[in-house]
Amino acid sequence: MNIILLGPPGAGKGTQAAELVIKRGMKQLSTGDMLRAERAAGTALGHEVEGLMKAGLLVSDNIVTRLIGEALTKPDTAKGVIFDGYPRTEAQAKSLDTLLQSHGRTLDKVIELTVDEDALVDRITGRYSCVKCKTGYHDRHKPAKIAGVCDVCGSTEFTRRPDDTEAVVRERLAVYRANTAPILPYYEARGLLARVDGMADMGHVSEDIARLLD
Ligand code: AP5
Ligand code: MG
Repeated sequence: MNIILLGPPGAGKGTQAAELVIKRGMKQLSTGDMLRAERAAGTALGHEVEGLMKAGLLVSDNIVTRLIGEALTKPDTAKGVIFDGYPRTEAQAKSLDTLLQSHGRTLDKVIELTVDEDALVDRITGRYSCVKCKTGYHDRHKPAKIAGVCDVCGSTEFTRRPDDTEAVVRERLAVYRANTAPILPYYEARGLLARVDGMADMGHVSEDIARLLD
């Protein structure tokens, strides 16, 4: 099964993708995570995208489509893929169709997480994650059980994304409205689009997604 999780920054795409990885053995392909990995590794690509990401702007379609194309050749995608943060433009949506076709795969569902934009700023500015195992947390909605210690791996090192400031979040929301929301009708017309209330608590959102996939 191959699905897309669509929604504005902070909608819960990464949170829900992580659940699907654990419960269904699917592979999460997050272009945001891939680009952050390039930056962390100090590659030429990482340097190229740094300014755009810090400003909350989209990197070029060619770059992200190449990353997704490479990932789809790997065997760990065999059980199915969750596209998280890709596609984000009409050109990317069309490229994904071509890529899937060339790998003999189909797109089964596009799930839009619908959210209240005001809540997103709170969600994103409270987000942090474990440096070691990447588990995501939130200051108020999902704090570590023991303050300062990762629930999963016990590490005491946490990090926050440099683009998670209020000003950059507002820019990312504007970019979503201008470039990404317009691709929803592309999937709706093909009968692939389903909507889930992303404002419900995380467990409910997971249940709603599971119902759509069973
Ligand atoms: P990317 O990393 O994709 O960021 P994003 O789309 O802005 O989305 P986020 O990761 O911020 O939000 P999310 O929906 O994953 O929410 P999360 O689950 O973490 O992209 C970053 C940048 O990379 C872009 O700005 C761009 O520069 C570049 N880029 C990436 N892909 C690109 C592409 N295809 N084309 C061009 N450029 C690209 O949840 C947020 C917080 O809320 C967490 O703390 C979580 O614990 C909490 N939370 C989650 N669900 C709930 C809930 N139901 N109730 C309460 N709290 C919740
Ligand atoms: Mg994410």
